[in-house]
Amino acid sequence: MAVLVVGGAGYIGSHTALALKRRGYEAIIYDNLGAGHAELAPGFELIVGDISDASKLAPVLRRVNAVMHFAAHAYVGESVVNPRKYFQNNVLGGISLLNAVLDSKVRKFIFSSSCAVYGTPAKVPMSEDLPRVPVNPYGVTKLIFEQALEAYGPAYGLGYINLRYFNAAGADESGTIGEMHSPETHLIPSAFEAIRGQRPALDIFGDKYPTPDGTCVRDYIHVSDLAEAHVLALEYLAGGTSQAVNLGTGRGYSVREILSAIKRVTGREVSSRMAPPRAGDPAELVADPTRAQELLNWKAKRSLDEIVATAWKWDERVRPTPK
Ligand code: UFG
Repeated sequence: MAVLVVGGAGYIGSHTALALKRRGYEAIIYDNLGAGHAELAPGFELIVGDISDASKLAPVLRRVNAVMHFAAHAYVGESVVNPRKYFQNNVLGGISLLNAVLDSKVRKFIFSSSCAVYGTPAKVPMSEDLPRVPVNPYGVTKLIFEQALEAYGPAYGLGYINLRYFNAAGADESGTIGEMHSPETHLIPSAFEAIRGQRPALDIFGDKYPTPDGTCVRDYIHVSDLAEAHVLALEYLAGGTSQAVNLGTGRGYSVREILSAIKRVTGREVSSRMAPPRAGDPAELVADPTRAQELLNWKAKRSLDEIVATAWKWDERVRPTPK
């Protein structure tokens, strides 16, 4: 079986392409390399194209049985200051891709959604039936795409899974692929930049949240665990019904706990300083992963220390300098 991994030269897409290959699937990567990197697609067929380019998509869609869609902008803060970019790509581009899929014979679609669709949750841990009330344009674009799939699915016989990721982190154990964002805003690689003196210190965004140590709590999930869940979602779709599924560990860590883990694993101290809270950051986001276990027989296997160790191994290899 062949799968088109759209956005497969990005962080989560590249790990998923590798997971597919390891399970014996053919993965073809389609990416416009706007935020993706050809180096993250080693040994894969890479078609350079945009999600809105229906004529480029049509021939490759004839060669695959399923599509996984990762090609989205994903900076919450940027989506607030430049929503046009997010609606243009994540909504207009995404729907254009979806329509190209409908015009092909492919009827299996896996979507990279986000816990951002829930906004500030009424309860934690968060189950899939919580209301979806996003609090930033990024989350709105993910919700709109989920709703498009919910309408297209029954109308056109399209099977889909909306995979709602919590905080993806870490890198493949091989050290060959990992996170490569420019600029880097995510906590763990930003802390590595502080260790290396590539930034003066790590800013801790707020310590007055109603959490045990006052800093925000997130559910950090190893990217290889996430990637493996996509393969299981694809296999589930062979007989199962369309679904939304949270992908998280069910365990939250505060910003300070992450910095301690980094010290424990790397032996290096992260110099940090207090900074004001970041707009739109909920205090606590932790998944209830029960549905993923029940439907997909999936459970996160890798620990926080493995997340940090693999991220560090990758980071030491590439030490990306900001563009
Ligand atoms: N943080 C800091 N300092 C930093 C960077 C992050 O204190 O320099 C804190 C944030 O406030 C947050 C936590 O570390 O509490 C994690 O922040 P990240 O930027 O690593 O991740 P986010 O939780 O903001 O973002 C993730 C995904 C998004 C998704 C969002 C849903 O990357 O795609 O979760 O809320 F939309």
